[in-house]
Amino acid sequence: MCGIIGYTGKKKVKDILLNGLELLEYRGYDSAGVAVVDEKTKETSVYKCAGRVADLRAVCKKQEIEATCGIGHTRWATHGGVNDDNAHPHCFGKVTLVHNGIIENYRELAVEYALEGKLHSDTDTEIAAAVFDHFYEGDPIAGIKNAVDKLKGTFAFVIMFADRPETIYSVRNVSPIVAAKTPEGTMLASDVTAIGGYTKQYFAVPEYHILEMTKEELHLFDFDGKEVKPSYVEIDFALNVSEKEGFPFYMEKEIAEQPGVIADLIAGKTKEDLPDFTEEGVADQLLYECENVTIVACGSAMHAGLLGQSLMKSLAKVPVTVELASEFMYSDPVITNQTLVIAVSQSGETIDTLEALKYAKAQGAKALSIINVRGSSIARESEAVIYTNAGPEIAVASTKAYTSQLAVFCLLALRMAYVRGKLSLDETKNYVRELKKVPDAMKEILGEKEKIHHIADGILEAKDIFMIGRGLDYAIMMEGSLKLKEVSYIHSEAYASGELKHGPLALITSHTPVIAVATQEKLLSKEVSNIREVKSRGADVVLFAKERILKEAGREYMSFALPDVKDEFMCLVAAVALQLLAYYVSSDKGFDVDKPRNLAKVVTVE
Ligand code: G6P
Repeated sequence: MCGIIGYTGKKKVKDILLNGLELLEYRGYDSAGVAVVDEKTKETSVYKCAGRVADLRAVCKKQEIEATCGIGHTRWATHGGVNDDNAHPHCFGKVTLVHNGIIENYRELAVEYALEGKLHSDTDTEIAAAVFDHFYEGDPIAGIKNAVDKLKGTFAFVIMFADRPETIYSVRNVSPIVAAKTPEGTMLASDVTAIGGYTKQYFAVPEYHILEMTKEELHLFDFDGKEVKPSYVEIDFALNVSEKEGFPFYMEKEIAEQPGVIADLIAGKTKEDLPDFTEEGVADQLLYECENVTIVACGSAMHAGLLGQSLMKSLAKVPVTVELASEFMYSDPVITNQTLVIAVSQSGETIDTLEALKYAKAQGAKALSIINVRGSSIARESEAVIYTNAGPEIAVASTKAYTSQLAVFCLLALRMAYVRGKLSLDETKNYVRELKKVPDAMKEILGEKEKIHHIADGILEAKDIFMIGRGLDYAIMMEGSLKLKEVSYIHSEAYASGELKHGPLALITSHTPVIAVATQEKLLSKEVSNIREVKSRGADVVLFAKERILKEAGREYMSFALPDVKDEFMCLVAAVALQLLAYYVSSDKGFDVDKPRNLAKVVTVE
């Protein structure tokens, strides 16, 4: 949450900051601000406002900004409402700073440093600025260290001191910061998206270290004041993220990218039709020695975990539990050194998932993670990492990252089944050959997207929608329903079809939209009965199913025929159809599809 950028060098900083903030806006977008150091006077000026980066751009346009050093922030509010005063940067005395995270002991600090009446905002961040100012006596490294010793919580701070013009400092705990040296200056940001246009090499600032950036150099110090060498990594993807490539929204672009992403993923993680994770350093031992698996994740990644659970149970016969990462530690989980914990995360920064992983490791579990962003915090915390390589995902609603997690789970379940002797070599290879048909099936759906657009038109005015399915289809619907509600603001609930009669059926009245997915042959007759039950109570049923299943169910529904792949892999195909449905409802309602209200893509607060 919150996007941070900083630059000091030879170039004019205004556009670097504003363009960078636009790229980081998916991290939070309720307010934005910059602080820039005037080239001649060396005075710091702050420009900030509630609203989007576009609003900040308008504010900055009216100003004469001649600066080559500055910091910027795009906010997702935690403490204090959304208004100009609460926007970052915040200033106190000699300190100007931006912050991502939460300072938990801000009330105590305000009392300890007698800040009542001296503050201009309702934020924990301004209090932190006062603490940094209190401890700053001309030595930034000592001042930062002493101030940080007083702070409890998570933070990524980027700080400028008035008497150290054009030098930027940063310190962090949990919340991420990456930094890089470019040919014309030094820069940092919350993630690589904002710096990839300037450099191919960057490093993650380690926790409780202090970064000092001048126009020519950057230095990293530990808390004993000793200089530490940064561990540089390469950016691994083409940075075409600023381009929507003709699509009106990133979400549509990212949906359309899925056939390519999944085909590349399967090709990169199989050898002669056998799932193979050796290049990523995932030893088979990790997969056959464990007695049970616990998957921890949030949001769409958790929904991918639910499908992973079904596949691992049915193919590899391993007991698997899936836990919401935010609930995990408080649920007295039974974890032993025979547990393989799998953390799933697009960003690799979701704090609940990171904390759950650390907790499981402390109980003796082995840690594997499925991550999209290389070098992220969860990746660094894991013994082994499988990268989904989906490329940057900009829309807040996850699409290609989710399906790439599903594809990894398909291959992981198959490899597990193979190394545990539950599937023969031939059986495993046959499964992989079937999985390879998925990208074409996805393309087929994309070719028929206007049919789904038409279905979307039919549910635009709905207040409540139910999404039903059985088995794997129920797990698919959990994600389909989340997608719909997050981008269309229509209340939608996923229900296991068999559970309808235990409550939700009471809410089915004439013309309530009920969206059903039926892809599992073995559950067909029961699923069809449940669909008839809602239909006979007046619901408007939309059925997504294989052609053969549609015939069996009867043609009286609004329907979409899903291309036929093996039942275990239908989740990947159905996901694309449900993503398109959510997308069209949102765009036809005129919403900003990529930035749903109140949400953010990278959730670094608990
Ligand atoms: C946010 C995003 C979701 C994502 C979830 C978990 O809520 O909007 O799309 O599924 O966080 O994020 P992660 O990066 O851990 O996959």
